[in-house]
Amino acid sequence: MAFSQSEVVVFFRLALLAFLLADSAPRATARSPADMLMRERHGRWMTRHGRTYTDAAEKERRFATFKANVEFIEMFNAGGHKYWLGANQFADLTNEEFRAMIDGLRSSDSRAVGSKSNGFRYEHVTAVPASLDWRTKGAVTPVKDQGSCGCCWAFSAVAAVEGITKIRTGKLISLSEQELVDCDTEGEDQGCDGGYMDDAFEFIVKNGGLTTEANYPYQGTNGTCDAKMAARSRAAATITGYEDVPVNSEAALLKAVTQQPVSVAVDGGSIGFQLYAGGVLTGGCGTELDHAVLAIGYGTDGGDGTKYWLIKNSWGEMWGEKGYMRMERDVEAKEGLCGIAMMASYPNA
Ligand SMILES: *[C@@H]1O[C@H](CO)[C@@H](O)[C@H](O)[C@H]1NC(C)=O
Repeated sequence: MAFSQSEVVVFFRLALLAFLLADSAPRATARSPADMLMRERHGRWMTRHGRTYTDAAEKERRFATFKANVEFIEMFNAGGHKYWLGANQFADLTNEEFRAMIDGLRSSDSRAVGSKSNGFRYEHVTAVPASLDWRTKGAVTPVKDQGSCGCCWAFSAVAAVEGITKIRTGKLISLSEQELVDCDTEGEDQGCDGGYMDDAFEFIVKNGGLTTEANYPYQGTNGTCDAKMAARSRAAATITGYEDVPVNSEAALLKAVTQQPVSVAVDGGSIGFQLYAGGVLTGGCGTELDHAVLAIGYGTDGGDGTKYWLIKNSWGEMWGEKGYMRMERDVEAKEGLCGIAMMASYPNA
């Protein structure tokens, strides 16, 4: 990342080092130069991310978390990993808080058994290029930001529909997540409390399509379904159904991704996800699916040959590689890294 953030990190490391060398006092002591530097840094971070706190006590608590995260980031980044971390918008949250906030997939034991998947049409795909990026084919809208509403399921499903719509019609149109949050409430999906991509696809089929982002803009909170807004250019994007990628097969996922961007669920609650700043994520996560993203391609890292999936997230452009992530591909576990091969699906159009 050629962001000024990295320059800032380098500057502060040097400054911190200078102070530590010049001053043998413990660095964590209040009013120590290191502590003051960290407070200044927290202040700048607050400005950058538009963060405010209700009172001094909360600010002090948040500062302590920020400091712990920054120290963790610096230690981690010195460790020679294939990915690196940064003080992004989640840097004042503990990992537990982050986990609770992003959780946007309904717990899998409540998964609708009745959801209909119609087979896997890409089973016989053999033309698999060495790398692919649906962004270069104009099938990916700019990165969006779900904020603190746990509706990653809607962002993932909408992004997949945006992709197949571009592929079928030649038109890339940003579509409405809020319509799903507000109107897809009869079944399993629960707005900001979580949902499933397959149920979103099912809703879009029954609904006769989805309206545009411009017609029904994102609010970041549960709202009441606005039928008038939803009815405007509903046919902006229509789908006929959806299919699930065979479970626990990165090979099957690869075939599907060669044909269209694919919705995937991941264990996104790890500190690696929380503070990801770039590189190829290679671990630190389990298979507890709690987040949904979009697989938009794959490739091999030129530096060391690590194979990766290219992921579009919905946490804004300040997170990761301008809102995107690369995650290691073809790992030993059949579930894929962070469970990426466990619950993949795509809409048909
Ligand atoms: C959001 O709406 C869903 C129903 O769509 C409901 O189950 C959930 O509790 C609501 N969440 C909040 C925070 O109001």
